[in-house]
Amino acid sequence: MIETRDLTKKYGDLYALERLTLKLEKGDVFGFIGPNGAGKTTTMRILATLLNPSWGEASVCGYSIYTGSKEIRRSIGYMPDFFGVYDDMKVTEYLEFFAAAYRIKGPERRKKVDQVLELVDLGYKRDALVTSLSRGMTQRLGLARVLLHDPQVLLLDEPASGLDPRARIEMRELIKELRSMNKTIMVSSHILPELADICNKIGIIERGKLLFNGTTDEAIRQVRQKRVYLISVGADQNERAAKKLSSFSEIESVGLEAEGTRVRATLRDGVDDGGFIPERLLQEGFRLRSFNEEEIDLEDVFLGITKGITN
Ligand SMILES: Nc1ncnc2c1ncn2[C@@H]1O[C@H](COP(=O)(O)OP(=O)(O)OP(=O)(O)O)[C@@H](O)[C@H]1O
Ligand SMILES: [Mg+2]
Repeated sequence: MIETRDLTKKYGDLYALERLTLKLEKGDVFGFIGPNGAGKTTTMRILATLLNPSWGEASVCGYSIYTGSKEIRRSIGYMPDFFGVYDDMKVTEYLEFFAAAYRIKGPERRKKVDQVLELVDLGYKRDALVTSLSRGMTQRLGLARVLLHDPQVLLLDEPASGLDPRARIEMRELIKELRSMNKTIMVSSHILPELADICNKIGIIERGKLLFNGTTDEAIRQVRQKRVYLISVGADQNERAAKKLSSFSEIESVGLEAEGTRVRATLRDGVDDGGFIPERLLQEGFRLRSFNEEEIDLEDVFLGITKGITN
């Protein structure tokens, strides 16, 4: 649904975007993650045919950005990072105005407006002035606006920025709902954890370069190649278990943690399943109290990839 090859945008000597190559299939929710100035907005504006690249290829829904901008604009909903709303317009008037621009006519227009208001949960504000809406409501109105013509592809540029925690959760729920409608979605953020669980694919970009492209799990694996497990066999037995574990050839290092209440075992490179640990401990006569793979902080994964740290 979205494909780019070597997509590049230069401003003078600056590469805002450098040889971006991406592929999104129908139904993909792609989290586009990167710090300020990484090139996220540039990419979305190019895909929305609002900005010309310096070179490279890009197509949306099979149409080239160079020759099919009309078709692309009809099949996408692009929600920019900042958008103005007009004074003295009610929520419904605002949406009807855009529906008219999409040539949605008569009773169909009313119906569409009601539908999108319902979807973004803004029906109760239908008669409010757009300027009276809170930031979170304005963001949802912006999303409603790009859903009017029922686009296949959504480009959402930092839809959750500036929202409070509650509103961020609502925005995520909304994106999940759009995902369940089988839309193809590119959504940007500078926070990995915010997007990780609503996206099936993520891309991490910095200074115009795509540093990572894959699933969240793959991102985690890239940063931490070794698996770490936290184990407890009961506080008084942990030390003995730690000694035993350090004799296993699959285990690289073992340590006691949290005042001896758990054992931290790191597997050797290339050993990617610690499932043997509980089994062997049981064989050795230990009673297993807990056994978990250590969760990695996604913020660390992000920092690891953008700083090129891979251990
Ligand atoms: N019109 C312009 N003229 C010159 N440089 C520009 C222009 N637009 C963007 N840039 C530069 O291109 C780079 C990428 O900007 P872009 O807006 O795509 O980043 P972003 O990932 O969206 O960042 P943010 O998280 O701050 O929104 C930045 O270095 C920016 O300064
Ligand atoms: Mg931006």
